[in-house]
Amino acid sequence: MDLESLGEEVKLNIRKASSIDEIESIRIKYLGKKGELTKILHSIGDIPAKERPRAGKLANKLKNEFSELIKEKKEEITKQKSLPWMDLSLPGRKPTMGGLHPLSILSQEIQDIFIQMGFSIVTGPEIETEYYNFTALNTPEDHPARDMHDTFYLKDGRLLRTHTSPVQIRTLEKHSPPLRIISPGRCYRVDTFDPIHSPTFTQIEGLWIDKDISMADLFGTLDLFAKKIFGKDVKTEFFPSYFPFTEPSAEMWIECPFCKGKGCSVCKKRGKIETVGAGMVHPNILKSLGYGEFNGFAFGMGVDRIAMTKYDIDDIRLFFQNELQFLRQFDDSKL
Ligand code: PHE
Repeated sequence: MDLESLGEEVKLNIRKASSIDEIESIRIKYLGKKGELTKILHSIGDIPAKERPRAGKLANKLKNEFSELIKEKKEEITKQKSLPWMDLSLPGRKPTMGGLHPLSILSQEIQDIFIQMGFSIVTGPEIETEYYNFTALNTPEDHPARDMHDTFYLKDGRLLRTHTSPVQIRTLEKHSPPLRIISPGRCYRVDTFDPIHSPTFTQIEGLWIDKDISMADLFGTLDLFAKKIFGKDVKTEFFPSYFPFTEPSAEMWIECPFCKGKGCSVCKKRGKIETVGAGMVHPNILKSLGYGEFNGFAFGMGVDRIAMTKYDIDDIRLFFQNELQFLRQFDDSKL
């Protein structure tokens, strides 16, 4: 083989080599003691004197070129090996995006229903004064109803609100009736976590103040709400109840959507589920705010409880554990 073709062959082999071992065997094959180029260099003396200088020069040039190429290729392979492995043909990774919590989704849905009925949304502080949480709501200091609303107190005497009802007072202090508001938000009570209790929960308060409002308006409003949330065939029932800030007071129960009133584990064999506390706003409250000539109703509902009924969830703690598998079931974006 002539030197030129040998040169081309070796350069091609070096370029194609992909491992240090391969490069090493190429080096031995051509530049080793018995290597092809080494043999040629040794036999330069045997070729005709006229051609000798050209051949010698070319063979030496190739030897230097090969050594240089081999060195470069070795460096290249070592460098590649130290790089993290990367497959450019792999599809990209989709970033995981957050979604809305089921309680936020349902709270929004409930708010939309009342917005359609002409209610406005207002919010109030989670840290409240005793005055707004109890006293102004017709619940003086020695009132036994305070027992059911034990809560967390701050050093300065303020407390974590036990319900969203203080927003009724805050709103009436700022705006004169007629008015229709709902107020969603977090509430707190001294409760230990169990399947149906939690020290924090979400409520939605409602208040409609005008002239000549009756219990029939209250029942109609809540019945329509229940049908929009649980389906148009849901049956509602109202029972007498007691709250210090409403007179008369009532509870709305819905027929259990799972057993249709027959009794099952969700409704604890009762056939119905308590959903809303409500009543006509106590005249003492309206009088003390200077609105004696007005009347109206108020209601309060627990979003967690409604979510448990609507989605058949048997443990309230699931809302607070941040298990993605649980939360993703409610996320429309299906990420
Ligand atoms: N605030 C009451 C509770 O948390 C619910 C309620 C609100 C009842 C408004 C009547 C009127 O139990």
